Amino acid sequence: MKRRSILKHSLALATAASLPRMSLAMASPADDFDYILTAETGRENLLGDAPTDILGFNGQFPAPVLRVKQGKRLRLRFDNKLEQASTIHWHGIRIDNAMDGVPMLSQKPVEPGESFVYDFVCPDAGTFWYHPHIHSIRQLGMGMVGALIVEEPDAPPYHEVIIGLKDWRLKPDGSYLPLSIPREAFRDGTLGTVNTVNGQQRPVIDVPASAALRLRILNMDNTRVFRPEVSGHETRILSLDGSPVIPHRPFELTPLGAGMRMDLAMYAPNRVGEQIPVYDKKGRFGVELCRLRVVENTRHTAPKTLPNLPANPIATPDLDKAEILRFVFEWQGALSPTRADGAVDHSFWLINRRAWDGGEDHHSLPEPLAKLTLGRSYIAELHNATPHQHPIHLHGLIFTVLSSNKRSIIPYHSDTILLEKNERARIAFVADNPGDWMFHCHVIEHMKTGLMGYISIS
Ligand code: C2O
Ligand code: CU
Ligand code: CU
Repeated sequence: MKRRSILKHSLALATAASLPRMSLAMASPADDFDYILTAETGRENLLGDAPTDILGFNGQFPAPVLRVKQGKRLRLRFDNKLEQASTIHWHGIRIDNAMDGVPMLSQKPVEPGESFVYDFVCPDAGTFWYHPHIHSIRQLGMGMVGALIVEEPDAPPYHEVIIGLKDWRLKPDGSYLPLSIPREAFRDGTLGTVNTVNGQQRPVIDVPASAALRLRILNMDNTRVFRPEVSGHETRILSLDGSPVIPHRPFELTPLGAGMRMDLAMYAPNRVGEQIPVYDKKGRFGVELCRLRVVENTRHTAPKTLPNLPANPIATPDLDKAEILRFVFEWQGALSPTRADGAVDHSFWLINRRAWDGGEDHHSLPEPLAKLTLGRSYIAELHNATPHQHPIHLHGLIFTVLSSNKRSIIPYHSDTILLEKNERARIAFVADNPGDWMFHCHVIEHMKTGLMGYISIS
């Protein structure tokens, strides 16, 4: 509660700095939105010694951490002060379709100078995030990504640490390298050169001695698969993609593709001054992402055991009666990824032999990949027939990952599944949220070059 009011206050201040009239709106008790977010340009010193021009929510990076209580309404006015259209998508929220932030599919793009009020209930607690769903290579690549934390009504007594991962494609002077290189877009995607956690390179994050920690790790990068690991300490997996893993289980290396999240639980050591590195594991080695530094604990009393998270109200699919859907992810490997004139081929990646042909702003909408019946259970067989990894994401629903031909799976809830090359996996869900829901790879260049579609539930 307190944190939320502080945040509202600081958001109001951030808004007031750039938009004096709006701060009056924020102060009004009759105000019918909790937050104002503006899309605007800003400057951040990501490299430490050279400023970078960013596109930011409220012109800043990291973007404001939005908080709402589970089951409560988030009301937010989005003002677009960029010179191009934008929207906000609420990744992982089982949202009212009209609020999903997808151009043309659920709303008109928010044009420069326009506003849009997002108003929706958050039915599930967990670690979610928000980002535009248009001009994504540029807008996400230059900073428009932020954490959305939906708090449990009685939040377990954890000390929270947010670890927001994002790479930037920067030269040493702070300016950008090309955000997308066609040759890379047709492989694993174009990787960033500068790795940041919460907008800083290898930051040191203070944690109270002996506290029970909840590390909310978010991969908000356009491309990279992270394999986060807290070195030398016993950690537990509390949740995956916002959905609680109950009971929490011993840590094992879990690759987080673009868009994916993982909450880890652990006790902070009791020795003040101790530092614990968090690595992105590469085989036996690791690249340090950040460190946790133990500081004196003035008020946090740690529970005797690490508490579980409460379950979210996700419907259980009826596997016996479920209808089977099949999705094959392919590429036009025999063709050249660029056209004769060198331009990018926007139909390189395919879902069920079709590339997204609606264009960047979805000016023409293709037919849905599948039409589902409201209330019915479905099993979707996903086949990655490419030699590349794809974090496949479904909007509006949370599915259960059932099985895979590549690894043994204890079924878990998720909104994004990272398919390894040639992997076949099965997911199941109840189609209980009506509307048109995007189904796409979260490697932004892949979705922009075909690996995108939608399903329709009515
Ligand atoms: Cu983060 Cu369409 O998704
Ligand atoms: Cu999403
Ligand atoms: Cu992909």
